[in-house]
Amino acid sequence: LIDAAAVQALAGAAEVAATTLTIPHPYADGVAEAWIEQHARASDARALAVFAVIRSDHVLVGAMSLRLESIHHRAELGYWIGVPFWRRGYATEAARAIVGFGFDDLGVNRIYATHFTRNPASGRVMQKIGMTFEGCLRQHVRKNGRFEDLARYAILADDEPARLLRHNAIADTS
Ligand SMILES: CC(C)(COP(=O)(O)OP(=O)(O)OC[C@H]1O[C@@H](n2cnc3c(N)ncnc32)[C@H](O)[C@@H]1OP(=O)(O)O)[C@@H](O)C(=O)NCCC(=O)NCCS
Repeated sequence: LIDAAAVQALAGAAEVAATTLTIPHPYADGVAEAWIEQHARASDARALAVFAVIRSDHVLVGAMSLRLESIHHRAELGYWIGVPFWRRGYATEAARAIVGFGFDDLGVNRIYATHFTRNPASGRVMQKIGMTFEGCLRQHVRKNGRFEDLARYAILADDEPARLLRHNAIADTS
C-alpha cells in the first residue's frame, strides 16, 4: 500500500514540479490520494501502468509510469524521483525495469519519453537505458506562461538495448 503522505512530501517539491507537466504545485491535500486511486481505475482499463519506486528498505523514492496507446502498441514512459534520492541511480534502475516490463509483459513495440531540454538529468536516464534521441520538439509546451522545448527519445522492441532489457540483463549503455 502506498502512503499518500509520502507521495505528497516527495511529489510536492518545487524541484519535481519544475520539470514535469502534470504534477501540480502547490500539491494540495487530497491530491496524492486521488492520484493513487486514479491509478487503480486506469490500470483496470489497461490504459496506465504506474509503479511506485520502492527501495529495499521499503522507503518510497519515486514513481514510474507507462501510458499505453494500444492501437499503436506503444507506451509513453514518465517518472519522478524525490529530491532526497536524486543521483543515486534509482531513476535509471527503475526505468530499465519498467521498460523491460513494457516489452515483455505488455507486449508493446515502442516506448517513448520526452523531457524539457533544460532537464538534462532526465535525458541522461533515457540515454542510459538505451533510448535513441529522435529530435527536439521546439516550443511544444507552454508551462507557467513560457513556451518550452522538449527532447524526444524512444526505444523499439527490436533495438539491441531493448533485447538486453527484455532478457532482464542490466545493460549499461552509457
Ligand atoms: C530526472 C530524475 C528522474 C533523475 O533521477 P535520478 O534518480 O537522480 O537519476 P539517476 O541517479 O539514475 O541518474 C541518471 C543520470 O543523470 C545524471 N544526473 C542526475 N541528476 C543530474 C543533474 N541535476 N544534472 C545533470 N545530470 C544529472 C546522473 O549523473 C546520471 O548520469 P551518469 O551516470 O552519466 O552520471 C530526477 O532528477 C527527477 O525526478 N527530477 C524531477 C522530475 C523529472 O524531471 N522527471 C522527468 C520528467 S521527463
